[in-house]
Amino acid sequence: MNAPVPPPAETLRHSLATLLDGLPPRQATQAVDRLIATYRGGATPTHTPILRDRADVAAYAAYRMPATFEAVHAALEAFAQAVPDWTPTSHTDVGGGTGAATWAVTAAWPGERSVTVLDWAEPALAIGREIAAANPALKNARWQRARIGTALTLDPTDLVTVSYVLNELTAPDRTTLLDTVASAAQSVVIVEPGTPDGYTRVIEARDRLVTAGFHVAAPCPHSAACPIAPGTDWCHFSARVSRSSLHRQIKGGSLAYEDEKFAYVAATRLPVTPAPARVVRKPQIRKGQVLLDLCETEPALRRTTVTKRHGDLYKAARDADWGDAWPPAE
Ligand SMILES: C[S@@+](CC[C@H](N)C(=O)[O-])C[C@H]1O[C@@H](n2cnc3c(N)ncnc32)[C@H](O)[C@@H]1O
Repeated sequence: MNAPVPPPAETLRHSLATLLDGLPPRQATQAVDRLIATYRGGATPTHTPILRDRADVAAYAAYRMPATFEAVHAALEAFAQAVPDWTPTSHTDVGGGTGAATWAVTAAWPGERSVTVLDWAEPALAIGREIAAANPALKNARWQRARIGTALTLDPTDLVTVSYVLNELTAPDRTTLLDTVASAAQSVVIVEPGTPDGYTRVIEARDRLVTAGFHVAAPCPHSAACPIAPGTDWCHFSARVSRSSLHRQIKGGSLAYEDEKFAYVAATRLPVTPAPARVVRKPQIRKGQVLLDLCETEPALRRTTVTKRHGDLYKAARDADWGDAWPPAE
């Protein structure tokens, strides 16, 4: 009997653990500190890559890639539920860096497909290619240097991912990228940090894709305007990430996990069945009742209370998670 194949998340964690071998711990923590400072600075559109050398990229991959992988994977799983009979045969990851989204796509839709990773940082592509050697579904992936801007061209692709990239682009480059993606892709998944600014960029992207003829598949149950009044709140979700030894080294403490907050949109030209509603906050479990904050098809935001009197629905509500479709599919 063949040994069971470990899931991509486990293989990825293992590959990343070996990445810092040979890099002095002080150099790794310094590179992470510099990255954290850069990203915390917020205003990041630059003319040259932030990931300058192997130490930067190794630090990025070891420190951030598990989180970006989990966030993209959560977005893809929500998307897959809305297009249950579809599997992408080709995937392009724009601003793919070390390829977290390529790993997430192989976790959501196992098997090999045509995969292209585009980024302007050569050291990121090099390490991405090295890590991907551990994932059989990525063995033929192409890792190509490309700058996002007016000169960017994309071949027609089933799925394009743009993960944690929009915040590094100028507004004109964001617009150009979205138009290029909209004309090449059948489906698009965009993921950003779960901050008010990240949400705003996701909504801008969503509006542009809808105008280009895409349907929103997730998280929204509809393609109409978002019901959140600008500036009052932001739609975001949370993905649980196992902490690596590097995380513990840098952040201290002994927590085995942390929660990555992210905002996303999955949009497609395919026929789509979005969830009837989505849980948009952490459910509140009280004695005999569960309070669910839902985004519904109205489109409207509404709090519903599910009590023991609702029988099976109450059991489902107790199991419901922030980000889940509601009610759960049969
Ligand atoms: C925060 S990293 C995200 C990497 C990866 N998508 C992930 O989710 O882990 C942002 C990536 O965008 C790339 N990037 C930023 N601006 C770019 C540009 N103008 N052209 C090409 N790549 C760019 C960076 O080199 C980096 O790899």
